[in-house]
Amino acid sequence: MSFKFHSFNKADRYQNYADWPEDYVTALNELADQSPWRNHFHLEPKTGLINDPNGFSYINGEWQLFYQYYPFGPVHGLKSWYRVTSKDLIHWEEKGLGLLPDSALDTHGAYSGSATADGDKLRLFYTGNVRDENWVRHPKQNTVTLDPETGALGQKELIIDEIDQATDHFRDPMYFTAHGKSWLVIGGQRKADERGTLYLYQAAPSNLNQWTYHSELAIPQADSAYMFECPNINQVDGKVFVTFCPQGIDQDQLTYQNIYPNAYLVADAFTAEGKLENPGQLHNLDYGFDVYASQLINAPDGRVLGVSWLGLPEIDYPTDQYGYQGALSLVKEFRIQDGHLYQYPVEETLALRQAPQVLFDHIEMDQNNYEYAFEVAANKQATIQLYADADKKHFVTLSIDTIDGKIKLDRSEMGTIFAEDFGTSRTLDLAGQEKVTVNVFADTSVLEIFVNDGAYVMSSRIFTPSNQHTHIFADGTDNNLVYPMQK
Ligand code: FRU
Repeated sequence: MSFKFHSFNKADRYQNYADWPEDYVTALNELADQSPWRNHFHLEPKTGLINDPNGFSYINGEWQLFYQYYPFGPVHGLKSWYRVTSKDLIHWEEKGLGLLPDSALDTHGAYSGSATADGDKLRLFYTGNVRDENWVRHPKQNTVTLDPETGALGQKELIIDEIDQATDHFRDPMYFTAHGKSWLVIGGQRKADERGTLYLYQAAPSNLNQWTYHSELAIPQADSAYMFECPNINQVDGKVFVTFCPQGIDQDQLTYQNIYPNAYLVADAFTAEGKLENPGQLHNLDYGFDVYASQLINAPDGRVLGVSWLGLPEIDYPTDQYGYQGALSLVKEFRIQDGHLYQYPVEETLALRQAPQVLFDHIEMDQNNYEYAFEVAANKQATIQLYADADKKHFVTLSIDTIDGKIKLDRSEMGTIFAEDFGTSRTLDLAGQEKVTVNVFADTSVLEIFVNDGAYVMSSRIFTPSNQHTHIFADGTDNNLVYPMQK
């Protein structure tokens, strides 16, 4: 069977799941099996496309995570929520499709949203993407319960219909609690000026299917954007921070190179009136090539935990030729220190480490999944080549300059170039001329780089020919330890 994913038209993308012929599905699975880029400790789809993490939550001693999923090709089609569960945030059990677009409330997709424990059930909040016969979109914010044992869903209910203030871009309800109330923050586009904004709704915790409009939460620091997607409001370390994706934001409000950024700002508080007290500057959440739609929760154990989509809208990825696209980041813990947001893989991730190997200037490995920890002293220039083959034909370069305070990730030599219209390197400015510590988490085609305990992060997809057997070359680094990761 030959696959022409690029020519998928509207009818193909929105075809009922049940109408895809069995031989197509079998052939797609066989195609996907041929991929040389399968990751070992990152979530990705078997076939089809994944994007935003959804419904991240904890109930009955288990973590629940869902993600936007289209099973039939590496394209954005009729979306559902795929469900995985975990006891330790690092090993995930696949539970299959968790929420399907199968009602009048979600005819054209079960779009992004969140979840919380509600008694012994999980309560999901999501956007039903509904289109009418003229292809006009009517976003519906819905709720439904899910039995965490069986995965059985209750009756879907509409909680918030279209609103006069917003255009048809009104989606991604994120649940949080503050001041003894339950809140939803929803991303949107204001009708009056077609700029991005957030909408707040409130409910009594005892009645999570009754929501009342509270107010608009404008973010002046991002008011040049035309749409805010995937918002989160989290509280930690006596501060509150907002993460969201301000699409189309001007470069003078936020400097970024990816097609769309994922951004954050820190404030002193989220008041009972639904306002941010002393909101600070807008920053990039991640300085790499491929982070979007991060979902962050205030977990019941007191941590703020989050997962990012390691991918971007409207970008073709090298795995498309194998019939799948997209991956999720490791689960990260978020905290705030001196007004700055830190993010780092949860401590549970340490359990994946195997006995470390010391690296002097080169190491050869028979697996391309490892954590590499090192330092660069003040006033030095270091060059690290990752994902390299023996004769250094293909590799990824990380240059760390503690004289000028810069870190550069360059993937121009990785072998399979993509999204080059958006540049082949990313640079991060460090404050001051100080020693830098770096923890690199490398998987077959995922690279997550954490600088200074997560003060800065660069997350990217990497596609090299040396995806199993690999070399690391390092010059100018100290205290190098490489931990192969459990497969
Ligand atoms: C962000 C997004 C969300 C939407 C979902 C659809 O990537 O566009 O705003 O709910 O993806 O898959």
